Amino acid sequence: MVHIPERPPANAPAVRINLYSDTQTRPTAGMKAAMMAAEVGDEQHGDDPSVHELCDKMAKLMGKEAAVFLPSGTMCNVIATLVHCVPGDEIIAHKTAHILGSEGGAHAALRGVQIRALEGERGMFTPEAVKAAILPKTRHAPPQALLEVEQTANIGGGAVWPKEQLDAVVAVAREAGLATHMDGARLMNACVAAGIPAHEMAAGFDSVWLDFTKGLGAPLGAVLCGSHDFIEKSWRWKQRLGGSMRQAGICAAACTYSLDHHVERLADDHANARKLAAGLSQIPGVVVEKPDTNLVFFDTTGAGITGAEFSAKLRMQGIQVSSLGGRIRACMHLDVTSEMVDEALEAMRKLLSPK
Ligand SMILES: Cc1ncc(COP(=O)(O)O)c(C=O)c1O
Repeated sequence: MVHIPERPPANAPAVRINLYSDTQTRPTAGMKAAMMAAEVGDEQHGDDPSVHELCDKMAKLMGKEAAVFLPSGTMCNVIATLVHCVPGDEIIAHKTAHILGSEGGAHAALRGVQIRALEGERGMFTPEAVKAAILPKTRHAPPQALLEVEQTANIGGGAVWPKEQLDAVVAVAREAGLATHMDGARLMNACVAAGIPAHEMAAGFDSVWLDFTKGLGAPLGAVLCGSHDFIEKSWRWKQRLGGSMRQAGICAAACTYSLDHHVERLADDHANARKLAAGLSQIPGVVVEKPDTNLVFFDTTGAGITGAEFSAKLRMQGIQVSSLGGRIRACMHLDVTSEMVDEALEAMRKLLSPK
């Protein structure tokens, strides 16, 4: 049976401080105005000027030849696999990768590929680990087609891959004849945190995408970038999967607005994450992972309360976090102010400190 997220108890108050996910932001007034003013056409027919504007901007930002607008980040990952791989191929990725654990088995179901899961600290792996995973090209081994990295690594704690480490794993993959794909769901968080432009982060990658529904605050949309040939092939899969849209410019305008107005402010989210982490680390028994970006992961069991209990109690105070396999994730975004972080921290302190 498929797990449906549990509803909050009937007596739970409305959520006042939403630290559950950076996907739950609401469009700002400025973004809505940009959407209202968008010029639109038939995207499926290559005729929507606002989609073209977004794709041109994204191809330039990522340093790639072309780009395609898609409804979601998951579709970007799935289409990249469909284009880069054939059935029977193997993808090398981290064991916590979104493509492995959170896309409903799409890569196996729709492309018949297997994923070799690498170990590594904070959702990242080393060039040595990639080298060790490269199989001899015999008729016994699965053909290895693609190396995939997540920048930032979500379950790795929003960790930022250092540029040198990206270059090093890409070099090993290239040497072994693999294509390279970057899941850039939160790429702009990495760029802002490291002070490195997106085109440099993505330089060694054949394909890369950015999600507009994470810290950038748009209601939907992601853009997949690559060579002209890659994007041409991606368009065929977009059509096959039902991802071709009509007056999508309304949504593309929100994405363009977010690129113009919501990138630099990601630094505020990172500062809020550091503030929450610093406060939590003062509480005896709480183990906090040092945040690189907007995600704060911590473990409350040492303070005598399980993650599930902790999040349920916070929810009854109108504060929402997520509990992921024992770890708590608190996520900073557009709708979380510095004052809200203070208030959330105070509530957490009360729950976690001995009476
Ligand atoms: C690292 C990563 N990749 C991919 C996705 C999928 O993005 P979407 O929800 O837009 O399909 C997510 C969503 O949380 C993510 O965190």
